[in-house]
Amino acid sequence: MSDTREKTPEDFSFLDPAVQDCPYEAYQVLRDQAPVYQDPQTGQFVITRFADLREVLLDTENFGNGGTRPDAKQGLSERQLRMLAVYEEKDGWLPEPTLAARNDPNHRQMRNMFDKAFRPGKIKQLDPFVESVANRLFDAFAGDGHCDWVQQFAVPLPLIVIGHQMGVREEDIWFIKRATDAWVRRFGQMLSEEEEREALEAEIDAQHYFKKVFDRLREEPDDTLLSDLVNSEIPEWGRTLTDGELQAEMMSDTFVGGSETSTNAIAEGVKILIEQPAVWEQLKSDPDKYLRTFVEEVLRLESPVQTLGRTALKDIEIQGVKIPAGASIATRYAAANRDERRFECPADVDLERKNPMAHLTFGAGIHYCLGAPLARRELYYSFKTLVDRVDELWFAPGSNDFQHHPHMFLRALKELHIEFKAK
Ligand code: HEM
Repeated sequence: MSDTREKTPEDFSFLDPAVQDCPYEAYQVLRDQAPVYQDPQTGQFVITRFADLREVLLDTENFGNGGTRPDAKQGLSERQLRMLAVYEEKDGWLPEPTLAARNDPNHRQMRNMFDKAFRPGKIKQLDPFVESVANRLFDAFAGDGHCDWVQQFAVPLPLIVIGHQMGVREEDIWFIKRATDAWVRRFGQMLSEEEEREALEAEIDAQHYFKKVFDRLREEPDDTLLSDLVNSEIPEWGRTLTDGELQAEMMSDTFVGGSETSTNAIAEGVKILIEQPAVWEQLKSDPDKYLRTFVEEVLRLESPVQTLGRTALKDIEIQGVKIPAGASIATRYAAANRDERRFECPADVDLERKNPMAHLTFGAGIHYCLGAPLARRELYYSFKTLVDRVDELWFAPGSNDFQHHPHMFLRALKELHIEFKAK
């Protein structure tokens, strides 16, 4: 018997893996009843409507990011301090603020340098490589007629692409994946202390790997994105990035930001294509017309980054809710992307949608995702490979439970077993 009682925001907890697995009802209830909702468990103010979220993201006077002092230990719990000590014990690099965690003008100075490295012309040059990796990965299981799309395609594709640009040899990507997985688990805030320590050790192993890459690129610059990041000076700082600053970028901003996210969209897109055969048929009927919109619809509907955060810099009021200076804000991009006040039939995949890029999956304003053009290419060539090479596809019977990894911020399918008839 279904529960017909009207739900209220208090019926949902974003720490509950069941809500993380399917958060859309919670988002709807919050948007309708409490668009600025102070979560009783985390204390955060959760923003779920499109217009409010966009305003928060654009308003850098009132909302900021983490901060710029790497060594600030004030306010850390005993456990967090013990974790910091592991970096010293294992000769690692303490977490410096990433690009994403900085505020202007410091952020702008660093971002200008990153924007030059990730300039559109440079990213466009990656097209043939991304397409060839997609086809090569598909070749490996084309003859089998089945695969775990997550493990055999959606995970390796972005890892190989970003790895190639970040000095990681293809045979080492699973070693790096171990570290990015560990980083993501730690970021998800669901680990015991022992698990967190193990995760940290994996990250420090990767730091030692990357240190050798930085040194090599300083000696012998090449045409990769990382080479530009290692060797370019930030004029206002009068210097290049330090090893610690580079380490922070490698793990969170480029490898996690650039692989875990695209992986999840590539996986969810295929789930949608199987669940909605009419969309698959429409896509195949005119890929040149529909592929790009399909990419945007997947990004909008299944935002890989469900939420991140901001800090209120001043006392402020949104939708009549008073938010005190210092309060933490949850920027629920995924909820805003299904706001019926902004999108017609928001839960539908609409390949004729006008202005399909107008979602908040990549944020907005000064922190707008640096890697959005690269991510869009990865999704495009993933789905193009299927359209080019597959006649029909379906879920492998009895093999899927469609569960997502428990996580506060990211949405990631654990596995997706599919079968297909190749062309
Ligand atoms: C589908 C894939 C991706 C999604 C959903 C995604 C999402 C996001 C979001 C939501 C933000 C934060 C915006 C804000 O603070 O409001 C962000 C920032 C960022 N992303 Fe992505 N991202 C993706 C792929 C990538 C890739 C491929 C890279 C590149 C290597 C990347 C690098 C970054 C960086 C460096 C920032 C920080 C930018 C800044 O603070 O100036 N992301 N991304």
